[in-house]
Formats: sequence, C-alpha cells, structure tokens
Amino acid sequence: MTPSGSFSRLYSTAQVGAIVDALSRRAEFPYEMTYLGDGSEMWRDGEAPSNPAHASMLADLDTLLTRHAEQLLALAPLSTPVQIVDLGPGTTRPVRGLIRHLLDGARLAGYRAIDISAELLELAGENLRTDFPDHAAGFELCRGDFTGPDLARALAADDTPAHGGADPVRFVILAGGTLYNFPDPAQVLRHVRRAMDDRDVLLLTLRIDTGVDRPPFMDQVSVGGPHKPQQLAGLDLLAIDRSWYVTETGFDRSRSEVFVRARFLEPVAVTFDVGPEQRTVSFEPGDTVLVWRYLYHDGAAVAEQLKRCGLQVRLFEHGRDSQVVLVAATPAR
Ligand SMILES: C[S@@+](CC[C@H](N)C(=O)[O-])C[C@H]1O[C@@H](n2cnc3c(N)ncnc32)[C@H](O)[C@@H]1O
Repeated sequence: MTPSGSFSRLYSTAQVGAIVDALSRRAEFPYEMTYLGDGSEMWRDGEAPSNPAHASMLADLDTLLTRHAEQLLALAPLSTPVQIVDLGPGTTRPVRGLIRHLLDGARLAGYRAIDISAELLELAGENLRTDFPDHAAGFELCRGDFTGPDLARALAADDTPAHGGADPVRFVILAGGTLYNFPDPAQVLRHVRRAMDDRDVLLLTLRIDTGVDRPPFMDQVSVGGPHKPQQLAGLDLLAIDRSWYVTETGFDRSRSEVFVRARFLEPVAVTFDVGPEQRTVSFEPGDTVLVWRYLYHDGAAVAEQLKRCGLQVRLFEHGRDSQVVLVAATPAR
C-alpha cells in the first residue's frame, strides 16, 4: 500500500525521508509531523478538552508565563528590552499574556516564532493580529524545524536598531511540554543551548511527575486506553486503517516515558516515494509503532537534565496544579 494523497502533498522529500527513517529505525511516527495539515485542527480541538481536570491543567499551563512575568523580567538587566523567540508557538495561547505584559511596560523588543506547521503559523498569526492589532505586523512568524539548522535563523541577531539603545535580552520559549515529546530532549536542549547567547533566558512550561495523580496506566499497559485523535493522525496519513491495530497507552520505566503506540493485528507494508527512490516499511502482526511519547520526569530530574545540557535553573515555579511548572534557565557560566 501507499500513503494517502494528502501525505505526499503535506511533506517535503526530506520530511518523508525522516518519517521513513523513524518508522524503520525506531518504529515511531515522529509526533512533530502530525502538527501539519489536518493534525493542526485536531491539536487545536484538543486545546478545549471536555475532561474538566485536563482543561484546568491546560489553563494552568497557559497562564504560567503571564503570572510570573515580573519574576522573569527580574532575570534580565533592569529596563532592558526583551525579545521573545517562541519555539513551536502553536496557537500562541501561552505567550499572549506575556506579550501584553511586556507591551504594557514598554519592554517588548519583538516577537519571533518558528513552527514546523504552516497551518499553526496561520492560526498563530490570526490570534496575534486580533490581540495586538497595532503590533502584529512587526511580529515574525517563520516556518522551520527548530531541532535543526533553522534554529540559527530564529536566534540570529536582529538587524533592526536596538530598542531604546540597549541590546535586548531574549526569552527563548519552549512551552506546552513540546520538549518532552522528542525522543531525545537532551539533544534538543543542547542544540538550543548552543544557539543561545549568554544573556538569553530559556523558558520551559511542562507537566512533571510529582508522585501524585499519576496516570493509571503507569503500572500496566492499557489496551485501547486514553489517547487523542491527533496521536493517530500520522497512521491515518499512511492510510493504515484504524481496525488494523489496537492502541496501547503505557509507561516505559527504563526511559521514564508515557507513550501511546499502535500494535498491529494485520501485516502492513507501506511503500514511500522518497524523491526518485522507493522505500518500503513493513510490520507484522504483534509489531508496534510508537505515535506519541512524553518524558515524565520529576522536578529534580528536569533540573539535572538542564544542568547536563549547560543550563542553570534560575526559576522553578509550580502552577496551581503542582504538576505544571515553569522553568527558567540561563547558560551556565
Ligand atoms: C505541544 S504544541 C505547543 C504549542 C504552544 N507552545 C503551547 O504551549 O500551546 C507543539 C508546537 O511545536 C511545534 N513543533 C513541534 N516540533 C517542532 C519542530 N521540530 N520545529 C518547529 N516546530 C515544532 C508544533 O507544530 C506545535 O505548534
């Protein structure tokens, strides 16, 4: 079989190659690729969950940057303007309060976002124009992958004259747990750290393991357990029928990761056009493909990982729900 028609329209040859590599080398559909096309709609719908506990946790995540704006500003030299560099802005929901705060205090030097999804950038632009009609024209929204060379572009020095004479400090934001969806978050952190200036501040918002309210499937894999529609969007694009597999939600203790995977009930072979070449990925009944992962670290492990990646934690604030945290870190000296 071959992927659906929208698959080849959606992804560049390099992205198809990356998907085939991830499927064949680590039996995974890279989750970041599901934010493109219809996956962006599914993700946006998931921002308004029907489960009240989940809705309240998301609302908490979305307000952390705004609630702690003054503490974040205290990490920058007095009166220095701040440029926001938003890595994976989604709909920009978590950063708009911070932008408002900086504008109100005449401290915003600029806003730049980089996202892999053209559809989410479109949504981000609409939301920014609605909330900041007088400023959004100067905001920069770039399509790209911040885990690769595009990051250097997003963090390139600004050529525009410095705001009020002082060089801005940059708040580099990775909000909404995005970091912990990658197979190797430490590699992404090191990449971001290398592109940062010494004065930049990295801001993360995450859900962490506090030992309470742990997901019920941590002790035993739940077949058909909780998963979101967008977590299956990649397999849909490959034209893999949902009746050909069961989903499993569980916890990989060796990696401290919560995961959703598909376990095939039928043999499946998908042939891809990767430029002029054809590549086939095959699965037998019983084989699995990972479709979503989230590193479920406690606070100490979050700080330890940042330290190993050359970053020093400067602020660690819990939300109203203690599982939700804002972490600010600066390059270690
Ligand atoms: C979990 S959402 C978070 C969105 C937003 N920061 C928030 O907190 O609501 C992840 C976002 O990062 C983007 N993204 C994921 N991986 C990316 C990558 N490698 N390069 C650029 N954008 C990426 C997705 O398209 C999506 O907009």
